[in-house]
Amino acid sequence: MERIYPESKVEIQGFTARKYDQIMNVMSLGLYDRFIRSAIARLQIQPADRIIDLGCGTGRNACLMRHYLNESGSILGLDISSEMETQFRENCQQFPNVSFRNQRIDTPFTLEQKYDKAFISFVLHGFPHEIRLKIIENVYRNLTDGGKFCILDFNEFSLKEMPFYLRIPFKTIECKYAFDFIERDWKQILGEQGFANFEESFMFKKYVRLLIAQKQ
Ligand SMILES: C[S@@+](CC[C@H](N)C(=O)[O-])C[C@H]1O[C@@H](n2cnc3c(N)ncnc32)[C@H](O)[C@@H]1O
Repeated sequence: MERIYPESKVEIQGFTARKYDQIMNVMSLGLYDRFIRSAIARLQIQPADRIIDLGCGTGRNACLMRHYLNESGSILGLDISSEMETQFRENCQQFPNVSFRNQRIDTPFTLEQKYDKAFISFVLHGFPHEIRLKIIENVYRNLTDGGKFCILDFNEFSLKEMPFYLRIPFKTIECKYAFDFIERDWKQILGEQGFANFEESFMFKKYVRLLIAQKQ
């Protein structure tokens, strides 16, 4: 995979990509599994939902989301990493309604059908802002009217006010794009891109937010 944004840390390759889930488990001190299950439980997935998962990674999230679906529902994972694709296909191979497509999410694309939900988990913060807007345009184009855009990512917060024992790891681990992501008003941005009816819930001491917005 060619790296387009050298300063981004979401274009994951090599060892980090191959061991992504294990690294998340260790970095979260074992809390990640419970956290992601709880976040996915809040997506209000309906049994027949068609879901796109942008930057789907290893399929860990798709495997959890598919529990809420019946045979009419489906999940399409989009990613550009071959290491992630291998893991996604292996993890989801027994689920006929879960599929993968090698697809850049930051250039315009139109899928064969419209989707009821678009899920993006810890991907949006890792791009320059103008690229995030292109991703949001892609989501808007591929959602049904009234479809939901579900963003699981960092909440808005002030780095200066973050306690030092969290600020130091955040500044060390995260890419520079994350620092402006947390300062932006995401409801306003999404409102300007055609979304409304926001619902939000918070995790990890409010440093993480699930923001759900409805396509108007
Ligand atoms: C931080 S990981 C998050 C993975 C997954 N969403 C999760 O929550 O476990 C970021 C993912 O975005 C993918 N990605 C990065 N840039 C992308 C792009 N331009 N188009 C599609 N996927 C991309 C990476 O390959 C990686 O799987």
